[in-house]
Amino acid sequence: MIYLDQAATSFPKPVEVVEAIASTLKNIPGSPGRSAHKGALEASRILFEAREKVASFIGAEDSSSIIFTSGATESLNLVLQGLLKEGDRVLATSMEHNSVARVLGHLKKERKLEVIYLPCDEEGFLDLERCEKILREKPAQLLCVNLVSNVTGTIQPLHEILALKGETLLLLDGAQAVGHLPLDVGHLPIDFLAFSGHKGLFGPPGVGVLYLRPGLEEKLRPLKFGGTGSRSEFLEQPPFLPDRFECGTPNLPGIAGLAAGIDFIEKIGLTKIHRHETALADIFLDRIKECPGLKIYGPQDRVKASAIVSLNIEGLAPSEVARRLDREFGVAVRAGLHCAPLAHQTIGSFPQGTVRFSFGYFNRLADAEKAAEALLAIAG
Ligand SMILES: Cc1ncc(COP(=O)(O)O)c(C=O)c1O
Repeated sequence: MIYLDQAATSFPKPVEVVEAIASTLKNIPGSPGRSAHKGALEASRILFEAREKVASFIGAEDSSSIIFTSGATESLNLVLQGLLKEGDRVLATSMEHNSVARVLGHLKKERKLEVIYLPCDEEGFLDLERCEKILREKPAQLLCVNLVSNVTGTIQPLHEILALKGETLLLLDGAQAVGHLPLDVGHLPIDFLAFSGHKGLFGPPGVGVLYLRPGLEEKLRPLKFGGTGSRSEFLEQPPFLPDRFECGTPNLPGIAGLAAGIDFIEKIGLTKIHRHETALADIFLDRIKECPGLKIYGPQDRVKASAIVSLNIEGLAPSEVARRLDREFGVAVRAGLHCAPLAHQTIGSFPQGTVRFSFGYFNRLADAEKAAEALLAIAG
């Protein structure tokens, strides 16, 4: 199979990741922070080192500002549900994933939020002038930005957004960014960064991260409550990080796999990974440019896009194209709305959606070439 659904989850996983997961399951008897025997201490060491690794990878000074979650969805929920109060005003780009939009939809009803979707252009870029104007009219509690679109690969202009946001807190959905682009939360005023372990970081599913700027923890109510192995005599959640937001037995094999994924990226080099993925997307785009009835979405200037290509072929439903790619050519892609209906409304592909090809480090030149040939054959 030619796997071009890397934006859903990266595949294959590096052998080091598989080994780290297996080794934790095979060799670590005990739960981190729970007991004082050697196995539990070893588990605590793995958890601590993974936290330090994630912190250093994204430039966070203090590893206790790294909260392990079950994925980007939980990380985003933690901020949105934990921060926003009755009547708050929230801004979000019109390229958001449902893991932001549905939470806002729920909170809009439950807490009477004022939710404003900021316009983006046809390529998916935020209209910075409108954003600034709306912020100037009335400050908002939170601005949500999907840094890299899972539909078009559009990379939002982070520095410009940071320059105009003022006092408004910024929540970055980094699900499609972390592991693809360099991000340094230590040198940029990013308040919250949510991401998954199983996409760009090569970890397994079921593990994710929320970074929060130190000091912001007091503004966030925890999403869940329970055992932490610390301050067990109290019937209230410990106030300190990361225990305030992490409870229950952690997914140690998943976290160890995530840490091994980061080691892998550091061994190869993030720039090399990004260059390889985007080169494949560029080659694919070049090969299909003569395709009859082709409509490509997202940035024309591919420097401003990740290795995600969304397209349609006139007269063919995206689901039909994806089905034929899979059945007749063994090419795995995703079709439809990609959990981001707002993004499709923005780029003009709602309600049918698009066919999405997403490239990763383990894809080869031949994958891009064969996928292009298959698409050309289907388009006739
Ligand atoms: C932009 C974006 N945000 C959030 C998510 C949710 O990530 P997860 O399913 O790992 O929680 C995804 C997953 O595809 C995504 O692409």
